[in-house]
Amino acid sequence: AMKTPPSIFLPHQSVDMSTRQPATCQIQGRHAPSIARRAVPVAEAMTAFVLADLLLSDEARRPRVCLTLAEPTIDQALATLKENLPFVEMCELRADFLKPEQLARAADFPSQAGLPVILTLRRTSDGGRWEGDDDRRSQLFATILQSAPVPFAYVDFEDDFRRAELEELARSRGTKIIRSLHELHGTVENIVERACELKGSSDDITKIACQINHCSELARLFRETENFTGFPHIICGMGELGKATRILAVRTHSLLTFTSPAKTDPPLSTLGHLTPATMVRTYRFRSLTAATQLYGVTGWPLEHSLSPELNNEAFAKDACPAVMVPLPAETAREALDCAEALGIRGLAVTVPHKAAMLPLMATLSPEARAVNAVNTVIMTINGWHGENTDIAGFRQALSTFLGRDDLRSCRVAILGAGGAANAVAYAVASLGGEACIFNRTLEKAQALAEKYGFRAAPLASDQAKLLAEYSQIIIQTTSVGLSSLGDNGGCQDPIPFYAFRGDESVFDLIYSPPLTPLLARAQAAGCRISNGLGMLIAQAQEQRRLYKELSRP
Ligand code: ATR
Repeated sequence: AMKTPPSIFLPHQSVDMSTRQPATCQIQGRHAPSIARRAVPVAEAMTAFVLADLLLSDEARRPRVCLTLAEPTIDQALATLKENLPFVEMCELRADFLKPEQLARAADFPSQAGLPVILTLRRTSDGGRWEGDDDRRSQLFATILQSAPVPFAYVDFEDDFRRAELEELARSRGTKIIRSLHELHGTVENIVERACELKGSSDDITKIACQINHCSELARLFRETENFTGFPHIICGMGELGKATRILAVRTHSLLTFTSPAKTDPPLSTLGHLTPATMVRTYRFRSLTAATQLYGVTGWPLEHSLSPELNNEAFAKDACPAVMVPLPAETAREALDCAEALGIRGLAVTVPHKAAMLPLMATLSPEARAVNAVNTVIMTINGWHGENTDIAGFRQALSTFLGRDDLRSCRVAILGAGGAANAVAYAVASLGGEACIFNRTLEKAQALAEKYGFRAAPLASDQAKLLAEYSQIIIQTTSVGLSSLGDNGGCQDPIPFYAFRGDESVFDLIYSPPLTPLLARAQAAGCRISNGLGMLIAQAQEQRRLYKELSRP
């Protein structure tokens, strides 16, 4: 009813967000002065709300780290939780692992835990320890849910365990239901469809856990769940091969990822679980997003690979938004398929796929072609490109070890004529060294020696004299001495017949154990020694350089 005076250039005190300093601003327009005065704080408040909302929903979308507590007592569960607390956001009380007399204390657990808790009472048929019948289980669930002073955040009911009253009770307490399906022996096909069936018309969270036995199943799981964002769910691939699904929960749009403490029964590897610390520190789980660049390491088996640790640490140091995940695969083809399903930019390749990768590559580096082995594959604009960074890695580690960049007028003994020896021979030849290759199977030594004009000899005690002639630098490339071989060669020395003088430089490509029996003996005799860790680090560094340089954006 009243015509308001113009409010043009009415000064207003606010804050300059770029400097966080007080600032004066003026608003143009024809408004009541009272409105003009309020407009800025209102606009600022609205912006703050929108931003907070965006941040919060982004945060809410990030999968949580959930610690599975499969302990015999509540006190032990609490102690384990406390140890892992910096790395977890919620936990699962596996009440089926509790001693029967401890069940009465389960209701108090959420108030003691201090973070959201899932209550689970898994039957033996689903991989748990609960041996009682479902009626008894139902009663127990009811008692625990009802009497918990702080309610459980979630309760896990399996697909076939449908009890309307119990569900009603859970909901009335604000406890959300996780509707779970377990395939203990194989994979689940059409996983999204199955999750939809599982969900029905309820607002339950669906969980599908299936055993992954082949890398191809892993590829399918990731392909099928790529756009699965319709409703809250949890997808886990169980077993050693399922690890990537645990780390990349963000790729399956899962609500959470399950982790276990370091000492568990069954062991971590059976479940494919990682510890919360490994998940958060090594794999930087909390910073993974759909946009994180993915790299993988493949081989078969892959249990002892140091590559994820090495590379992820380097990615973190360089603030590079990338992560390397283990992708154990029985064949090179399967590894590439899975890498393609995940949009992986590059793979580190270990035994036994280094040679098998060769024919699968669109392009190859001269080194990879020369030594018939690919230890690095990179997705370029032309498709998969194969490289061999073992050569550069070895060259660099050797020059650090010897303090010189060439091997001219050096006599070198190479022990072994397998894949690793191929890379070493190439590098020794390129550095101008003169070598003799000693191998258990003479023909392989001869074939390799011929490529570079080297000598060849059997790896046998009657060759001690010849070995002495080439002993200025001794490079050990066989698998003899590897700790993973255990007693079948783990404590062995490939040249027990050779007596060190003390002036030899001995380089063993093995890094686990750090001191092989050969190195220990050489060191005791006064020789300079090096294990293979430096080479491993150098070749990984070269890999990352190539990924950066060649991978398709
Ligand atoms: P890598 O890629 O690690 O070099 P590889 O290609 O299988 O693996 O080669 C293994 C090397 O270790 C070969 O030189 C092998 O000798 P053979 O060519 O005679 O098989 C050597 N090796 C493995 N076990 C050995 C053993 N018990 N004694 C001596 N040499 C052994």
